[in-house]
This record gives sequence, structure tokens and C-alpha cells, in this order.
Amino acid sequence: MSDSKQEQYPGVVMPKCEPLKILKNQKALVTGANSGIGKAVAIALGEAGADVVVNYRSGEDSAQEVVDKIKQFGSKAIAHQADVSQEDQVGTMFKQMIQEFGTIDILVNNAGLQQDAPFDQMTLQQWNTVINVNLTGQFLCAREAVREFKRRGVVSEVSNAAGKIICMSSVHEVIPWAGHVNYAASKGGVMLMMKSIAQEVGPYRIRVNSIAPGAIRTPINTEAWSTPEAYDSLMQLVPYKRIGEPEDIGRAAVWLASDLSDYVNGTSLFVDGGMTLYPGFATGG
Ligand code: BGC
Repeated sequence: MSDSKQEQYPGVVMPKCEPLKILKNQKALVTGANSGIGKAVAIALGEAGADVVVNYRSGEDSAQEVVDKIKQFGSKAIAHQADVSQEDQVGTMFKQMIQEFGTIDILVNNAGLQQDAPFDQMTLQQWNTVINVNLTGQFLCAREAVREFKRRGVVSEVSNAAGKIICMSSVHEVIPWAGHVNYAASKGGVMLMMKSIAQEVGPYRIRVNSIAPGAIRTPINTEAWSTPEAYDSLMQLVPYKRIGEPEDIGRAAVWLASDLSDYVNGTSLFVDGGMTLYPGFATGG
């Protein structure tokens, strides 16, 4: 692994080996894949051998950059513009993906946003926008994916499973978050949606899991890490004492999408440096 690659993962010592192509012949769709966590996940899946649809809502150039990067690994990639909260746009996206790639094996339900406000000032529009994208968007995409997984079934040369869904949740599926009630409610909803779908479609050999990231260095939370003061205050919440990098989530997604995690179903994988360990109790209680 080159030094420049090492530099991409501050604070993380990467194993010195070629990435395994453990997702070879698999077709993946990553929503909200032109920035932040979605971008890192799309690139990691492509590096692991999957062909990837890079969904974005706005920002065609950045989506194209992700596509170009994935192609460098020898995988196929296409960008597709769609708002995941719109049923017709989601339907068209899946139709086009199946036309282009033949099927779908992996859905990463990543697209999400925050619209923060003190509770008594939160508008219905802020509430609806966050629920529509973060929760309804995941429902719409998961439903299309399950339809295709059930239609096609297991293809044993490709994967033990008929399909895998990874929902991007958050530590806020369990940690209440003042000033972010709409966001926390959406992620709490994602948790039980994910588990209920997993219970229902497990018999079809479809695996459904979540990744629950903590504080990851992305545009969604720039305020929380971009000044030394903010970073220090954030570290009070992270026992492992470093911010997460998008690549930390990319690697978790590759594992959850692969047969290495074949017996993992209906679970949330917390990738949070220990944020959910009640860090306040390290000295108190
Ligand atoms: C939020 C970030 C936040 C992190 C930890 C994420 O789900 O999107 O803004 O920094 O949780 O609180």
C-alpha cells in the first residue's frame, strides 16, 4: 500500500495487503453516494469488486468523480440522479439499474440529511423533509430491492444470500439528541424498520442490517470537528479519542455486504469509537 493511501486514513494503520475482491460479480446501489459516508462506501464496494450505481440528488460532478474512481479499480460504475423520497424516481432508478447491470445484490440505503432546530421552533417542513429522506427514502429503496431479490433468488456463484441491504443509521438510533428531534426520530425508525424487514425476509435468504456511525468527518457535521475547540469537545464523547473517517464506514460496509458476514442478520453494527459506551461514566456514577 502506498504512503499516499496511508495518509487517507489518519490515525488508522491499514493492513499491508491488496484489498480482496470479495464482492466480485455483485451489483450494488449506494444512495447519496456523491459525498461523505456514501461516497466512501461506494468507492470501497467498487474496490472490493462490485459494480456500483452511484445515486445522488444534486451534485452531478461529484457523483461523476466517484464513478471515475470506481472505474480505476476495474469495476463498472454509473451515476444516477434521483430523490429517494420520491416513489416514481426510486422506481425509475431501480428499473434502469436492472436494465444496465441485470440485477441488484447489495443496496446501501445511505442518503440522509439533518435539518436541526430547537424543538419548539421546528417547522413541519423540517420534520417532514428529514423523515421523508431518512426514513421513507430507505423504505422505498428497500422495497424495490426486496422485490428484485425475491424475484431472482440465490445465485450461489455470486453470494450465499439472495440479497443484502445495509441501512445507514446512526448512534442516534439509541442516543437521544436534543435540538435534532427529527433526525433522532428518523434513525430510531430506521432501526425498527430494518429489524422488521430482516425478520420478514430472512426466510428468502435476504440479509438486512444497519451500520450506526458515530461522529465521522463529513460535511454533515463540519461544525463538530473543524476547529480545535470543537474537536476537543467532540472527543469528550469518544472513548477511542479520534474522529471517524468515512473509510471506517466503507470497510464495515464491505464486510456487511459480503458473505464473510453471512450469519449476520437484523443487527446494527456500531462504528463509533465507543460513543455509545456512556463516556460520561468513565469517571462518574
Ligand atoms: C450525525 C452527526 C453527528 C454524529 C454523532 C451522526 O448521525 O449526522 O452530525 O456528529 O451522529 O453525534
